[in-house]
Parts: sequence; structure tokens; C-alpha cells
Amino acid sequence: MVADQRPSIAAVLLLCTQTRGALLQSQNSTWNSTFSLTQAQIDAANISAATAHNVEVALNYERTNGAGGLIQEDRFYDLPDDFDWDNRPAPGTVLKVEQNTNTSFYTLPPSVSMSRLLYMSETLNGTSSPASAYVLWPYLPKTYSKLTSSSGASSSDQTVYPVIGFAHGTSGQTRACAPSHLRGLWGDFSQQFPLALSGYAVVAPDYEALGVADLVSPYFVLPSQANDLYHAVAAAQSTWGDVLSKEFVLFGHSQGGGVTWSAAQRQVQRPVDGYLGTVAAAPFTDILGIIEADAQAQNNGRVTAIAQGLDSVLANFTLTDWLTEDGIKRLQLLQEIQGCGLVGATLFSAEGGTVQILKDGWNLTEAARWYNATAANGDRDFAGPMLVLQGTEDANANEPVVTRSVKSTCAMFPEKQLHYIRYEGISHTPVLYAGQHVYLDWIRDRFEGVEMAKGCVQETYNPVRGLKNIVRDQNWFLMYDLYGV
Ligand SMILES: *[C@@H]1O[C@H](CO)[C@@H](O)[C@H](O)[C@H]1NC(C)=O
Ligand SMILES: *[C@@H]1O[C@H](CO)[C@@H](O)[C@H](O)[C@H]1NC(C)=O
Ligand SMILES: *[C@@H]1O[C@H](CO)[C@@H](O)[C@H](O)[C@H]1NC(C)=O
Ligand SMILES: *[C@@H]1O[C@H](CO)[C@@H](O)[C@H](O)[C@H]1NC(C)=O
Ligand SMILES: *[C@@H]1O[C@H](CO)[C@@H](O)[C@H](O)[C@H]1NC(C)=O
Ligand SMILES: *[C@@H]1O[C@H](CO)[C@@H](O)[C@H](O)[C@H]1NC(C)=O
Ligand SMILES: *[C@@H]1O[C@H](CO)[C@@H](O)[C@H](O)[C@H]1NC(C)=O
Ligand SMILES: *[C@@H]1O[C@H](CO)[C@@H](O)[C@H](O)[C@H]1NC(C)=O
Repeated sequence: MVADQRPSIAAVLLLCTQTRGALLQSQNSTWNSTFSLTQAQIDAANISAATAHNVEVALNYERTNGAGGLIQEDRFYDLPDDFDWDNRPAPGTVLKVEQNTNTSFYTLPPSVSMSRLLYMSETLNGTSSPASAYVLWPYLPKTYSKLTSSSGASSSDQTVYPVIGFAHGTSGQTRACAPSHLRGLWGDFSQQFPLALSGYAVVAPDYEALGVADLVSPYFVLPSQANDLYHAVAAAQSTWGDVLSKEFVLFGHSQGGGVTWSAAQRQVQRPVDGYLGTVAAAPFTDILGIIEADAQAQNNGRVTAIAQGLDSVLANFTLTDWLTEDGIKRLQLLQEIQGCGLVGATLFSAEGGTVQILKDGWNLTEAARWYNATAANGDRDFAGPMLVLQGTEDANANEPVVTRSVKSTCAMFPEKQLHYIRYEGISHTPVLYAGQHVYLDWIRDRFEGVEMAKGCVQETYNPVRGLKNIVRDQNWFLMYDLYGV
């Protein structure tokens, strides 16, 4: 076929732009960071040369993925000049609004737009605290006949965007890990992009201390992150009251699934008007149970980060209650260089597991029990409807533990609406792809006011074309295009 041998018009244009422009370099030279550790940092952290090298590679990758450079250089995250720490505005107060974020440094799907805001959130003990969030706007909102705008107008009068309160998975524990400053918003095509492209306004907090300077992240203290979620939604609704719906669905994956489940529990105690239900994908429920089932390398980083958070929220806790001297040194390096999840994974893989990071028996301490009782989900009342999606091959939010939590919660609250779906052969993040049309339909039903039957529904799905033929995991990532092709 002759036609097939001719380059397409698009390819010809591509060729022209490339040959006319500057010399092209290989893809990996698009990295935007050349950080290296000093010998003093390497010595202080007591890490091997190989770990030091890997930390540098991981940090340069992470810094490259900051939208337009380092977060410290992005003046958006600075608090207003008149902000008074001793006289803080109440939770929900809006501090700063960036109507139209310059999206040129992000890797967002064409047609969406983005805003960012600083607002007051609420810590675990009820203190208000400044935080950041973003809104990802679709080109056109999905239309629903029953929506009301947050300011009270009904949707027949004007454009109203249906709202999803979006809780992100773990990006890290330092301010540099704020998803609103990451090119792909930490989730990209697995989560926020399909939601926005389906016509929802995605309102997404950066969890407390990710973004705003001089705070300590209460990492994985899920009720604290649930506060962020509700207050970010409220702050966005008060900023764009005429166009954001009062009604909202909560959606989260991984840590974010734990956050939305926690938010559904909070809703029983502190009901928020407009709540329509919760999607919790690969959620953290019985946290100590999941940690017990997961691999040591993964737990080293996770528990170290939880210790960092407990140090700020539990007055009688100190890092040495859980962490070895080596663990504390590595944590200090992570904080000093503002590393995120990949740097953490590198530091806490702990020289192939030969360096001890967690003290034996850390999980039997009073603090561990307090933490689990405070942060874990399940075995308590929640506001439904709730959709829980879980892959059977999840090595992170361990499936048998999540299933146990679902079953015991259902046994305790048989009248509550909980729909649990397990995907056979599916792991932690792929569950969002396997479950995409199911959760989109489920969210649509909530906005359409479809009544869900009372009680628990538990199902297990298998791929129609057979497990051995499906793509098991994501082997690609989004790359920023420096050349404008
Ligand atoms: C980019 O690739 C070249 C060739 O493989 C390699 O020498 C170089 O170290 C790479 N640079 C980075 C930053 O990974
Ligand atoms: C690269 O980083 C520099 C310095 O932080 C920043 O000014 C620049 O905008 C970044 N470039 C891209 C493409 O992100
Ligand atoms: C967005 O940032 C890019 C890169 O710095 C700049 O060229 C462009 O003018 C900016 N757009 C707006 C609307 O400010
Ligand atoms: C942790 O919390 C979960 C959920 O409430 C509970 O089922 C589990 O027994 C707790 N674990 C410990 C060790 O207290
Ligand atoms: C509340 O917690 C914050 C840290 O999240 C702490 O700084 C503050 O002192 C605590 N306030 C009270 C009254 O306990
Ligand atoms: C630490 O404080 C928590 C919460 O106030 C309390 O439950 C716990 O018993 C205290 N632990 C110790 C060892 O004092
Ligand atoms: C430093 O690391 C070495 C080797 O991993 C270990 O044997 C030693 O105990 C560590 N020293 C301190 C002070 O942490
Ligand atoms: C604590 O950790 C040990 C070692 O991983 C494990 O055997 C034990 O079951 C754990 N206990 C709890 C309550 O999680």
C-alpha cells in the first residue's frame, strides 16, 4: 500500500520543527536538577556511597518534576504578609487565590485548567493551620439536573461544576511533595485526569505541611488529612460559590483511600451538607495490621514518616521511641534535602535491609496503640454510600487485611451502604484503571440521586479475557516535553 509508505502530515511537520530548531538532546537530559550531596551530609547520615548515589538520582528526578523548579522558589506558597501565626483565621478561611495557574510547566491533559488556593485547614487537635490546594477544572462541566451551586442558585440558571473532593496518595512528607506543585499532580491518568475529563471539578488539598513552609507533616494521621479534605472543599466552594456545586463526592486512593474512609467516619460525627458518598480505592484501614503484612523496606519508610508526624501531634512521643540512631539520621537527611517518596524509598531500603531503621517492638508501644486507635479505619460507623475498590495482588494496602476490615465493619453496621469490589490479579495502582468505569458510573449515580440499597455488597471480578493476557502494571511515566512537539 503506497499510502502507508508516505510520512503523515503530522510527521513531516514534526520533522520540520525539529530540524529547524536547536539541536535535540536525549530524553534524560531534560532533567532539571543537578543536586549532589556533600561529603558532610553523607557522613552525617551514615550512608554508603551507593545509597548516596541513588539518593542523588532520586532527588534530581523528584526536583525535575516540580512544576517550574523548586517549591521554595514558587511565591504562591508564601503566606500573605499580614498573616499572624498568633491570631490565626478560622478553619475554612481563604488566604490567597490564584485564579488561573500557569499550566505551561505541568503535564496536564489538554482542555483542562487549574487554580490554586491557600486556605486555613485544621489539625488533629482542632487548631487551624494554613494549607494549599488546587482545583482542576474540566473544559465543560458534566451536567446534572439536581445540582445546586454552593451559593444557592440552581443549576438550570447557570453553569455548575459537580465537585469531587480528591484525597491524594502518599507523595512524601516534606513541603516539596505538595501535589499542587508536581507536574502530573501526583496521580495523573490514574485518578485526577479521568475525573476532570469526565466533567468534574476536582478539588484537591495538599495535606497539611506539604506546600506551606515551616510546618511538620502529620503524615498518615488520616483524620487530620480528612480535615484537610473537608476544609479544602469548603474553601473552594466559598471562593467559587456560583459555579461549584454544594453537592460533592469524596474520592481517594491508597493513603487517600484511607483519608476518604476516615472522612466518611468523620461525617457521622460532624456532618457536612452536600456530602453524597465516598470512593475509597486500595484504602488503608487497620494500619498496624497492614504494616504487619507488608515488606520491611516499605515499612521502614512508612513508619519513619509516621514517627515524624507523631512527634508533632503526640506530646509524649519522641522519635527515639520507634527509630534507631541510623533511622533518625536518615530522616534528618530526607528533611534537610526536602526529599519525597522516592528519596525516602532509597534511604529506607537501608542498604538492602542490613541497617536497622525501626526499633524492635516499636509496634507494641503505647504510642503505636494510640496511633492505630486514632488513625485506623473500620470497625466504626461511617456515612455511606461507600464504594471500596481493591486489587487482590496489592502488596501495599494488603488485600486480606482490607477484606477483613470490610467484613467486620459490615458485620457491625449491616444497614450501612458499602459496596466492596475486589479485582482478581490487580495490584495497588492498577485497581484505578480496572475500576475506572465502575467508579465513574457510581459517582454519576450519586449526583443523579440514585438510591443505593442498604447493606453490604461484596463482589470479586475477573478479567473477561483471562488473567495471563492483561497488562499487570504501569511501565511508563509522564515526561515533560521541552521541545514543544
Ligand atoms: C543520560 O544518559 C547518558 C547515556 O546513557 C548517561 O551517560 C547519563 O548519565 C544520563 N544522565 C542522567 C542524568 O541520567
Ligand atoms: C528548571 O528549574 C529552574 C530553577 O529551579 C526553573 O527556573 C525552571 O523554570 C525549570 N524548568 C522547567 C522546564 O521546569
Ligand atoms: C507561563 O509561563 C511561561 C514560561 O515561563 C511563560 O512563557 C508564559 O508567558 C506564562 N503565561 C502567562 C499567561 O503568564
Ligand atoms: C488497629 O485498628 C484496627 C481498626 O480499628 C483494629 O481492627 C485493630 O485491632 C487495631 N490493632 C491494634 C494492634 O490495636
Ligand atoms: C495542636 O497540635 C499542633 C501540631 O499539630 C501543636 O503545634 C499545638 O501546640 C497543639 N495545640 C494544643 C492546644 O495542643
Ligand atoms: C501519651 O499520650 C497519650 C494521649 O494523650 C496517652 O493515651 C498515652 O497513655 C500517653 N503515653 C504515655 C507513655 O504516657
Ligand atoms: C553507621 O553505619 C554502619 C554500617 O551500616 C553501622 O554499623 C553503624 O552502627 C552506624 N553508626 C551509627 C553511629 O549509626
Ligand atoms: C509487631 O511486629 C512484629 C514483628 O514484625 C510482629 O510479629 C507482631 O505481630 C506485631 N504486633 C502488632 C500488634 O502489630
